[in-house]
Amino acid sequence: MNILNGGVGQTIRLNDRTLSYFAGNNYLGLANDPTLVNNAVDALKKYGVNFAASRQTTGTADIHLELEKTLAEFKAKQDAVVFASGYMGNKILLHVLREKYDSIFVDSMAHSSITDGIPRDVSTVEYYKHTNPNHLEQLLKSSSKKRPLIITDGVFALTGEITPVDQLYLLAQKYGALLIVDDAHATGVLGENGRGTPEHFHLDQAPGLFQSETMSKAIGSYGGFISGSHELTDTIRKKSTFYGASTALPPPVVAAGLSSVKQIMSRPELRTRLMENTRILRKGVEELAFSTTKGTTPIIPLCFKEKQTANALSQYLEENGIVAPAVDYPVKTSQFIVRITVSSTHTEEQIHHLLHTLKEWREKI
Ligand SMILES: Cc1ncc(COP(=O)(O)O)c(C=O)c1O
Repeated sequence: MNILNGGVGQTIRLNDRTLSYFAGNNYLGLANDPTLVNNAVDALKKYGVNFAASRQTTGTADIHLELEKTLAEFKAKQDAVVFASGYMGNKILLHVLREKYDSIFVDSMAHSSITDGIPRDVSTVEYYKHTNPNHLEQLLKSSSKKRPLIITDGVFALTGEITPVDQLYLLAQKYGALLIVDDAHATGVLGENGRGTPEHFHLDQAPGLFQSETMSKAIGSYGGFISGSHELTDTIRKKSTFYGASTALPPPVVAAGLSSVKQIMSRPELRTRLMENTRILRKGVEELAFSTTKGTTPIIPLCFKEKQTANALSQYLEENGIVAPAVDYPVKTSQFIVRITVSSTHTEEQIHHLLHTLKEWREKI
């Protein structure tokens, strides 16, 4: 495991070396943006490290309310609710919607936060082939259950593929299903305003479509959130024990989240730069004929049949001053992946250095 000696920007300090960082999920470079850091420090000075109480008792502060209001504005929804981890978002939604479904249909490569979040009393859980609406329809058609719920990642963490939300939503309408999309890797990245995969497919305000989101990736802070109608957020506040009985998000995290969401709304150029860097790197990787996935997300996997090859490439990159890890979690795939992620803060020079090093490695083997 790599041990960091500093924060994660487009470079990192690792074992006393400065390396080009093409890993992690700091897609907009906001995790170490000076404004975010200053706002977090100010909040630390004003409120201390921790509110040390749950939201329902004495842990709700003015900044939580301001953050939730700003997130609602960002998402163009009535309200939003924040909680301690994006990982819990799927569990919270599956819990509060429990009376509205009797069966669950899950993408077979769904993130562990989805599969872990499935309530124990749901007897029918079926897995459809990865990003395959035709298979999903077969399962829905042959199911005896009348109130299905479909759940999937919006963007897959390892492969960067975008799930076909438009086709899933058509099926949801046809079969009277609810649809939940885990947009951990799409928030702040996809859609005209960075609102994620529903916006990418022009389904931003579609009824019966729910999103579980995080502030820990493109937003550059920490913690999960769900936006929607007052009815939904009120239900979460009343019914979710995770929301009600866990300690409120700490002050620096809340202040950083607030500052970040304001920047995402007012600085569309952050996303424009991210998309341009993504385009250049994806094109370069394709020209080098690496096996990768199609798409427009900043997660660019290099896929190999053998684990040793993925590990060897990752090591070669590191020897040449670049961090891009070989990863095989949180879902198992049939391939071994070197997961490259690009951010809006990478320079053209860094991207070209990465592509040049990949070319050298290709030629060597
Ligand atoms: C698809 C997906 N959902 C949920 C999470 C969990 O989010 P968080 O890190 O905010 O808990 C992650 C990654 O960490 C993820 O990749």
